[in-house]
Amino acid sequence: MANRLLITGGAGFIGSHTCVVLLEQGYELVVLDSFDNSSPVASERVRELSGSQALHVLKGDIRNAETVNQAFRCRGPIDGVIHFAGLKAVGESVANPLLYWDVNLNGSRVLAAAMEQRSCRTLVFSSTATVYGEPEQFPLREDSPTAPIHPYAQTKVAVEQMLQALCRQKNWRVASLRYFNPVGAHPSGRIGEDPLGIPNNLFPFITQVAAGRRSHLRIFGSDYPTPDGTGIRDYLHVMDLAEAHSATISHLLKQDPCTHLTLNIGTGRGLSVLEVVRGFEQATGLTIPFEVVERRPGDVPRLEACPDQAEMTLGWRAKHSLLEMCRDGWTWQQANPTGYRSAA
Ligand code: NAD
Ligand code: WQD
Repeated sequence: MANRLLITGGAGFIGSHTCVVLLEQGYELVVLDSFDNSSPVASERVRELSGSQALHVLKGDIRNAETVNQAFRCRGPIDGVIHFAGLKAVGESVANPLLYWDVNLNGSRVLAAAMEQRSCRTLVFSSTATVYGEPEQFPLREDSPTAPIHPYAQTKVAVEQMLQALCRQKNWRVASLRYFNPVGAHPSGRIGEDPLGIPNNLFPFITQVAAGRRSHLRIFGSDYPTPDGTGIRDYLHVMDLAEAHSATISHLLKQDPCTHLTLNIGTGRGLSVLEVVRGFEQATGLTIPFEVVERRPGDVPRLEACPDQAEMTLGWRAKHSLLEMCRDGWTWQQANPTGYRSAA
């Protein structure tokens, strides 16, 4: 009997790619998504790519208890939950902290209450490398201190702590996955990252410059204490991240109660902004014009994972190269110049 999973935020960038992998592995999925930052077209393409009809999509807000209960009732008992739904823009969290506390923390609380009410006590949570703040020692291990420096990361630390308590007190099985920088797209180019408006993040900005939607890239600072002066991040292919979720839920469903995992999900190989730009140019044969401007407030010089714990626990390690991240991200951008919206 296939396991049935609830995937909150499953129409989003990481959620849609994870749904493809899970459907291919025979799971039945219920997706709950408000489409605040995604499109139903993404889920239609997930069905197309996986060739599976075991995907049921519900539009709704995780903060609404009745909606969440409906998601639990619509197809029968839920064996586990992967919780992607949330807001993720650092700058927006500084400008509007209460919205982030409401969606990311209160939304997670409403979800957890509905799970507990049904004795559904297996959860994979989307956490973030930004919980480490501005670290000084690398590579970052899971016992590195958390030091969130903005409301977004603070909400993620708070949810991690709430879930740890549920493991201790209510016998839950939880994995908090601290993602580093997921980039790229499904190799088919049918699903990918579709940011609203002007991209905050480096990778979609580069692909939009390549597509002629933006005139040039602004590199935020070249005076960081790094080899070439530009910021270093741990970029991983979104398909590797999707596989990490599949390995995690499969592992959790076999564990005894009171299991709590915190895992860094990255490659362990940090890359600078300039290295990413050059890599994209080599992968595509295109030139990305750029100018160096002042640092972006809130940016840290370096974030780089030690992914050993994920490999030891799950047998997972990132496999894709920067070349593949660039190639697949460009395939998506070329095939979808204005993302899903042109398809709607
Ligand atoms: P995304 O915005 O593409 O996906 C999030 C999904 O959640 C969207 O489909 C959105 O419509 C939905 N959503 C938002 N608020 C909701 C609400 N109140 N009710 C129901 N659905 C709601 O983002 P993503 O990049 O796929 O990130 C998924 C998760 O991973 C987020 O929790 C994010 O904080 C976390 N994360 C992302 C990154 C990254 O760089 N992309 C890194 C670390 C962690
Ligand atoms: C990467 C590097 C920038 C854009 C973001 C989210 C964070 C988390 C991970 C959710 C940095 C530089 C960027 C540009 C640039 N997501 N850059 N020009 O900063 O690691 O964090 O993704 O958890 O919440 O904010 O990623 O892609 O924004 O920046 O020079 O136009 O590229 O300074 O060094 P970041 P990013």
